[in-house]
Parts: sequence; C-alpha cells; structure tokens
Amino acid sequence: MTARLNVNIDHVATVRQARRAPEPSVVAAALACEQAGADGITVHLRGDRRHIQDDDLHTLRRIVTTYLNVEMAASEEMIKIALEVLPDAVTLVAETPNEVTTEGGMDVRANLSIVRAAVHRLREGGIITSLFIDPDPQQIEAAREVGAQQIELCTSEYSEATLGARAAHNEGAMRSAQELRRLREAATLSTQYGLRVAAGHGLTYRNVSALAHIEEITEFNIGHSIVSRAVFIGLERAVSEMRVAIGNPQK
Ligand code: PXP
Repeated sequence: MTARLNVNIDHVATVRQARRAPEPSVVAAALACEQAGADGITVHLRGDRRHIQDDDLHTLRRIVTTYLNVEMAASEEMIKIALEVLPDAVTLVAETPNEVTTEGGMDVRANLSIVRAAVHRLREGGIITSLFIDPDPQQIEAAREVGAQQIELCTSEYSEATLGARAAHNEGAMRSAQELRRLREAATLSTQYGLRVAAGHGLTYRNVSALAHIEEITEFNIGHSIVSRAVFIGLERAVSEMRVAIGNPQK
C-alpha cells in the first residue's frame, strides 16, 4: 500500500511571525500543497503560539478540503480548541517549553489517565485521534489501552542517524539500520493491535524512501524538508517531489 502525504506548513507561519506580517499566508500555502497533490495539511498549535495562531486553525478548517491534522499537547486549553475547530484528526504530542522542535514521542504510559481522557473527548467529538510516540512496544501498548485510533511513530532518532557527519561513518549507517528496524517492528506491532500507523519528524527527500518500504506506514507528516526546498523551487514542486520520494507520485 502507498502512504498518504500530509504537509506540515508550520514553517510558513514561522516566516510570517518573524515579522508579524500577513505574508506568507498559510492559507495560500495549504492551497498550493493541495494543488500539488498533498493528501492533507498538518499544523502544530503550540502553547507559545510561535508559528500557527488560533485564527489560522479556524481559517484552515474552512479552506482545507483534503484532511486537516492538528498537532497539540493534551492540555485542557488545546482540547477545547480542537473541539471548537473540529479538524479531521488531532495528533497529541509532548511539548516542553523552549524546545526548538518536538523532542521525541509522548510518554503515554506515564500519563495514562490524562491521555485516555483527552482521547475519549476528541473521539466523542468525531475527531480521529493519533498519538505521537517513540517506536517503543510499551508506548504502543499504552496507545492501544487509551483507545487511540492511530499512532504516529517519531522518526527523529532515525532521521538524526541519517543526517550530517555521523551518517558518513559506519556508526551512522549501523544506527540508521537499527532505527529502521525499530520503526519496522513498531509498525508491525501497531498494526497487529489495530492501530493505524503514521510516521514523521526530521524526514527528508533522501531518508524517507527506506521508510516508504514499510507497508504498515499509511501516512507521512513532513514539514521542514519540504518548506526548506520550497524556498528554492516553490511549494508545489517541493510537494510533488516529496510524493515521488515516498513512492506515491502525483495521482
Ligand atoms: N510529526 C509531528 C508529530 C511533529 O511534531 C512534527 C514537527 O512539527 C512533524 C511530524 C514534522 O516534522 P518535520 O518538520 O521535521 O518534517
């Protein structure tokens, strides 16, 4: 099965917020991604609102016709916003103040009752609920226990192993092979538990193709690499090139 591609457009908002200006517009970005064949749009509403703003969510909900996935912490504030906006899916993530980006998956096992309550409320609101977790059997088991429909495997360890100087050494190649194996096993276990499997974080045009061979992964959430490439070649081309990279070229 080929995987879907959701494009994370947070960094379009990062550029906009650098000037608190109206452009670049996240609406224009979402439309361009959809035009180029994205299967969905992903945004992360962070507690500090450093990129995506509350208003963006409302506007995106109106204009996104494919699939809107909102990443957020499992806080009361965020759950209320989700139930107002009603995106197609919410991905619950761990959020630490001052982190540069999401640092690893959430610890579902350690926060079982909070996550269970959040999942319950989101699902009651008709929202598909996904949990961003490390490829760890204990977390997968916990995701099943709290009633999530989907998990998103955090690929940051794998991505790091494939990037930069470390990847050029044997050690890097061994680590990325190890991480790939962990992701493959985690994807198989999740599917056995009836969970849908997404993957994301730090994925690039180069390192995503190995993951695209993992049949159980049905969705990728990719942002930074696409927006970075878009600066040079435009968003539409950057999105369609990523579709090729995940082995699912333009429909
Ligand atoms: N998935 C989740 C849960 C994330 O938090 C992020 C980053 O916002 C991504 C995917 C996309 O990561 P990247 O921008 O590195 O492609």
